[in-house]
Amino acid sequence: MSTDDLVQDQDLHALGEGDRASLRDLLRGRRSIRGYRPDPVPQGLIREVLADAVLAPSSMNTQPWKLHVLTGDVLDRIRAENSQLMLSGAPVQREIEVAEKYEGVHRDRQVDIAKRLFAAMGIAREDNDARLDWTMRGFRQFDAPVSIVVAFDRSLEPIGPVAHFDLGAVVHALVLSAWSHGLGTVINSQGIMQAAVVRREAQIPDDQTIFTAVAMGFPDPDFQANLVRSARESVDDVARFVGFD
Ligand SMILES: Cc1cc2nc3c(=O)[nH]c(=O)nc-3n(C[C@H](O)[C@H](O)[C@H](O)COP(=O)(O)O)c2cc1C
Repeated sequence: MSTDDLVQDQDLHALGEGDRASLRDLLRGRRSIRGYRPDPVPQGLIREVLADAVLAPSSMNTQPWKLHVLTGDVLDRIRAENSQLMLSGAPVQREIEVAEKYEGVHRDRQVDIAKRLFAAMGIAREDNDARLDWTMRGFRQFDAPVSIVVAFDRSLEPIGPVAHFDLGAVVHALVLSAWSHGLGTVINSQGIMQAAVVRREAQIPDDQTIFTAVAMGFPDPDFQANLVRSARESVDDVARFVGFD
């Protein structure tokens, strides 16, 4: 898109009620998908989704994201080695700082979504085999036919948090666009816990830092976890209004 296009589009910011309703439905309808049909996703469809995603805002329009779209043998090799290393107790190897464990309200929310998923899947608290099976699914990126590894320019490491913010924006646009195209996604760290494996198999250049992955494919409508809704705090819990009186 050229600057001229942007100027011509400038009056489009006021959308109609129908558009607002569609956006509301999209934001409320999207949820993480953890069970996929095996059908491949056409490259053209993925390109449409990515063309939407890259419209995300970024700091100073730096667009630091690098999106590696994986499928087939490469992805299967990553799944297999990631799973095998994680099962063997190998230490997690990520390229960004991650929380060792959450505490307080963050832990409560983590437990809440886990309980909802286990309930939907009929996994009892004491059923260690079923719980392990669920964890292993995560290490395989839930067997999705596509995984988009999200990386960023390593030269931006000194301002990592800013680049991370930009990646969040592009990933949210990506998952919403995917949903609008009938595709499900789950943003996941589990599938790239062994970042060196991802880097080697996907041939990710050394001047990029691997941040996260987004598994993608057509949702399996019979997979019960796909129906799970995660909870959200209310606006009054997360926002305060200053100077409105
Ligand atoms: C950075 C990030 C990492 C995530 N990693 C995982 C993961 O490893 N496994 C998983 O099942 N879900 C993962 N999720 C999905 C979250 O659990 C999910 O987005 C959250 O529970 C809200 O649910 P929703 O996406 O259905 O709205 C991740 C989400 C984000 C944003």
